[in-house]
Amino acid sequence: MIQEQERKQMTIAEQKTASVLARKKQYLLPCVYHFYQRPPVIVRGQGVYLHGSDGKAYMDFFSGVSVNHLGHCHPAVTAAICAQAATLCHTTTIYLTEPMLELAERLVAIAPVAGGKVFFCAGGSEANETAAMVAQNYTGRGGYASLLNSLHGNSKLTLSLTGVGFWKTDLSPLPAVVHGPAPYCYRCPFGLREESCSLECADALEKTIAAAAVPVGCFFLEIIQANGGIVVPPSRWFARLKEILARHRILLVVDEVQTAFGRTGRMFASEHFALQPDIITVAKSIGGGLPMGAAIISEEVAARFTQPRASTFGGNPVVAKAGCAVLAVIDKEDLVANASRLGDVLQTGLRRLQERHACIGDVRGLGLMVGCELVSADGGPAAKMTDALLEEMKDAGFILGKGGQQRNVLVFMPPLIIDEEGIVRVLQALDGVLQKNVT
Ligand SMILES: Cc1ncc(COP(=O)(O)O)c(C=O)c1O
Repeated sequence: MIQEQERKQMTIAEQKTASVLARKKQYLLPCVYHFYQRPPVIVRGQGVYLHGSDGKAYMDFFSGVSVNHLGHCHPAVTAAICAQAATLCHTTTIYLTEPMLELAERLVAIAPVAGGKVFFCAGGSEANETAAMVAQNYTGRGGYASLLNSLHGNSKLTLSLTGVGFWKTDLSPLPAVVHGPAPYCYRCPFGLREESCSLECADALEKTIAAAAVPVGCFFLEIIQANGGIVVPPSRWFARLKEILARHRILLVVDEVQTAFGRTGRMFASEHFALQPDIITVAKSIGGGLPMGAAIISEEVAARFTQPRASTFGGNPVVAKAGCAVLAVIDKEDLVANASRLGDVLQTGLRRLQERHACIGDVRGLGLMVGCELVSADGGPAAKMTDALLEEMKDAGFILGKGGQQRNVLVFMPPLIIDEEGIVRVLQALDGVLQKNVT
């Protein structure tokens, strides 16, 4: 409870924030944490801006964790949602409706899987669960492999697949899951440098797979480890991965929950590395802000999955229509190319800042999915500094994200509709905040 004396000294906006925080504490599980010591209450979103109850506008450089590719309340998405909501909101997939077919047709046309059939569900964890079931059914093997430092969801299996220590809270993770080391070159798990590296991490992955107690049938890959701190494997690692998977006849499931639909400067991140996954999972941005997940499965693997499986909200007509609108706008406004071009501008700008600010240890990413790893004077992860910078950037009017095993990576994932001026402004603001030398 806020004391009366305290309340009197607060502005109206501060009182509002204090009351929202108190209600959150009272009614939500304590695990539902929020960013910032002094969080704004977000009341509205428009384009690349979020608006707080304090009357301030914040440029959104996190997009609700890579969801709002078109920014907030894009008129085409809002119109599609409203029109469908006024016509038919829900039936479930046991009845025939067309919007989900319209979306499935578009997804199959653009996804780099051979042929393709779609299973719709309500989010990324569920899409990955579906991928695991479908893969297991095809290979007849019940073991799974993934990478340390990846994130695949919050259900039992997907938490077991997850390799970010911060999230691994399950006391009984599934023993059928094994993890290989992440190809995280900035902090190589084998202490190697590019010149001396023979992809020891890939060798270790293969050994882990070969020694798994439950034979591995599929490998889950988060191409850019987003929550793990925007870790992008080197190109040659992908070539080795393909050999390993072929040798052990393992299916490839690429989790594109954060990376799909232009975020990385290609429609799918798989395209950067000429991957043709057996299954691609998507969620987040495809619903235009509404919940949706989907597994896009190759014709051959899908054909054998005939047993019953359903998801109550899978293929919901309102979300399917929103999804169609999202894809149409990405196409019409050439947002994939925008992400590629402005991602380069952002990375170049951050590298310039790196020359002047020793606390920027590494800048990496693809397209508009960029991470900036912050380090202390001895090169160790600077988690406290990251929180301080996030707070100061928010006060300067910019909402950034955070990731990394040690939570010391600033994450930039603005809506794909961002323009160059927005990128220049965030770089200037970061420069200003860094000059104040927060510790
Ligand atoms: C790469 C990745 N996969 C899966 C998930 C799980 O998605 P959801 O929260 O929709 O279940 C997330 C969530 O952040 C994610 O980042």
